[in-house]
Amino acid sequence: MNRKQIAAANWKMNLTWQQAEELLAQLFQHPLNLGADQYVSLGVPFPYLSLALNAAKNVQHTGVAAQNCYNRKNGAFTGETSAEMLQSMGVQYVILGHSERREYFNESNQLLAEKVDIALAHGLTPIFCCGEALDIREAGTQNDFVANQLKESLYHLTPEAFEKIVIAYEPIWAIGTGKTATSEQAQEMHAYLRSALAAQYGTEVASRISILYGGSVKGSNAKEIFGMPDVDGGLVGGASLKADEFLQVIAGLKS
Ligand code: PGA
Repeated sequence: MNRKQIAAANWKMNLTWQQAEELLAQLFQHPLNLGADQYVSLGVPFPYLSLALNAAKNVQHTGVAAQNCYNRKNGAFTGETSAEMLQSMGVQYVILGHSERREYFNESNQLLAEKVDIALAHGLTPIFCCGEALDIREAGTQNDFVANQLKESLYHLTPEAFEKIVIAYEPIWAIGTGKTATSEQAQEMHAYLRSALAAQYGTEVASRISILYGGSVKGSNAKEIFGMPDVDGGLVGGASLKADEFLQVIAGLKS
């Protein structure tokens, strides 16, 4: 299998400039020794993009992610950041549709479809987040819910465009709560999503899409979760803020 295995950090709105410098220095103190199919993405706040790009400059298989971008090309949108700006800096990835953006900033599936389009148009790799809240899991309708998120935001893409997407399945009840989905629960959803993708785009395309798991991944559980056949790494919040934890997460990637 040579699907990309990705350890994606999501710092969210954390760390001062000085703390960010220190964390980056610790992360890159020693070579990461990433295998042929292993990749690292650092999702840092906008003001730290240059810092992270500089720190990761000569590090193989390691790129920088923005945590959002705007759905318009450019213009009078005070306070927003465009995909074109990110591309021009050398940013490779953009996290789109994180549940915090959906909840606190009212990002809809439709808006996210537009953000995906503009990100792809500027050569960025969207890390597209999906996932259900606890009430949906308890009602047992999580598969339909998540499949619909993919359908409404991604299925307008051609197969060629779709292949550039990375998906992150993040059950909302597991984000920042310390309650990880079991590796079986993660595998079950990832296998379901891959079958849904296969129904839409064919098994070849579906087998090449990286599907990351997110929600309370840390050094001590990464290897087990990432070891599941349809889990291709993780999107990691809290544990990406500590160098030793995140390095352990990276070490948990399948080789
Ligand atoms: P967490 O966050 O690892 O802190 O649970 C994951 C995420 O929200 O991407």
